Amino acid sequence: MNDKGKILLVGFGPGSEEQMTLRARAAIEEADVVIGYATYIKLVEHLLPGKEVVRKGMTEEIDRCMAAWEQARLGKTVALISSGDIGVYGMAGPTYEILLQSGWSPGSGIQVEVIPGSTALNAAASLVGAPLTHDFCAISLSDLLTPWPQIARRLQAAARGNFVIALYNPKSGRRTGQIIEAQRILLQYRAPSTPVAIVKSAYRQRQHIQRVRLDQMSQCDIGMLSTVLIGNADSYWREGLMITPRGYRNKYQDLTGDAHEGEQAGRSLSLGLEGWQNTLREHLLAHPRETLPEAASRFDVPLGAVLGALANRGDEEAPCRFRVRQAAAGKWSKLLESCKTWGPLRATVQNRNAVTARLALDGAELRADNDQLLLGNGSGRFQIDLAAVDAAWFVAQGEQQRGIQFVDRYGDSLFQLSQDGGDPALYQKTIQRFGR
Ligand SMILES: C[S@@+](CC[C@H](N)C(=O)[O-])C[C@H]1O[C@@H](n2cnc3c(N)ncnc32)[C@H](O)[C@@H]1O
Repeated sequence: MNDKGKILLVGFGPGSEEQMTLRARAAIEEADVVIGYATYIKLVEHLLPGKEVVRKGMTEEIDRCMAAWEQARLGKTVALISSGDIGVYGMAGPTYEILLQSGWSPGSGIQVEVIPGSTALNAAASLVGAPLTHDFCAISLSDLLTPWPQIARRLQAAARGNFVIALYNPKSGRRTGQIIEAQRILLQYRAPSTPVAIVKSAYRQRQHIQRVRLDQMSQCDIGMLSTVLIGNADSYWREGLMITPRGYRNKYQDLTGDAHEGEQAGRSLSLGLEGWQNTLREHLLAHPRETLPEAASRFDVPLGAVLGALANRGDEEAPCRFRVRQAAAGKWSKLLESCKTWGPLRATVQNRNAVTARLALDGAELRADNDQLLLGNGSGRFQIDLAAVDAAWFVAQGEQQRGIQFVDRYGDSLFQLSQDGGDPALYQKTIQRFGR
């Protein structure tokens, strides 16, 4: 083996010469051998006279890596080329995997260099305005190597997280259903009017751009060379430009004017990490009928985050109509056993969406053992797996309402147990024993 060989992993950008970096061009010029997918080779053909060229088919990705490794072992400088950035859905990962599997290491002779390029995502964005000015992510719809349920989960998480989304590999001759399914998932979280740009062959001869809405997306002309950009909830089309606001309007009037009341230049927003908890308390005071689950849904946070915010209050902070204290973790069976002494109880199970189940019972009808909670009698019974409980909070409001709210590890409500009348001193006793 000759240890003078070199592998240059080159991303040459979206396709046109002007969008290629100087380093990418120099790397191709420096190479003895250039390896790539036939279409990529064509795009840089003018740089290839006098070089050994290895053209591979689209599915021969591992072959391309193996060929690069073999040529480098002969002492040659090899450029393995890819469009966009070679590390983004590209050959950099598989090449390193093959090399490491073959016993190569960074200090062992053959040099490897990754040369970055402008991605399809950046190229497409530049052609339609400024869609990526806020948090964004890329999701490939190709299920050739990734299970669809994982892709669907990513779409759901990105949509729920209000990311601008770039869809790579959105559709091919055979894969036509994925874009329809992606649209269906995204429409669960985004308005039908959400702006969408479909950019085909960016910076290439057949460049084509469609400016549409999310509910039109799957009907559009989309192919293997398209990248789809989907705006977030604030993105908009104006004068043919997709704009995603940076957030200045959250702080300043008319973008350049004075800061809104309660906001300060150079400081976190009033809804920032520390401020949002105060804002929540003020909101609850101003809306005396709003329940904690309603507040959680208004602020779009799990119920556990609302409870944590209310429990963490310092004396100097805004008063709160709820008295909240966290229960010591892990002693759920013992804590629940102590609720037996409360007298009449009410158990409530409420899911995020629409269903509420309530059960009135007596303390004697509660059994907590072996990580299971059994509530009720033969005619109506809740069975709850206590292994799912991550945290519990004593929550009281006024003189009448007091109970314990149990949440799972995501902070979502599992169930609530309330003292239904009965002696408040017994409830206080449980807090003294199990409160944190
Ligand atoms: C295997 S990925 C390669 C990604 C590339 N390495 C990058 O950094 O952008 C192929 C996908 O990239 C997108 N793509 C690549 N070149 C493009 C271009 N010139 N215009 C629009 N989309 C492009 C398409 O979504 C295509 O299906």
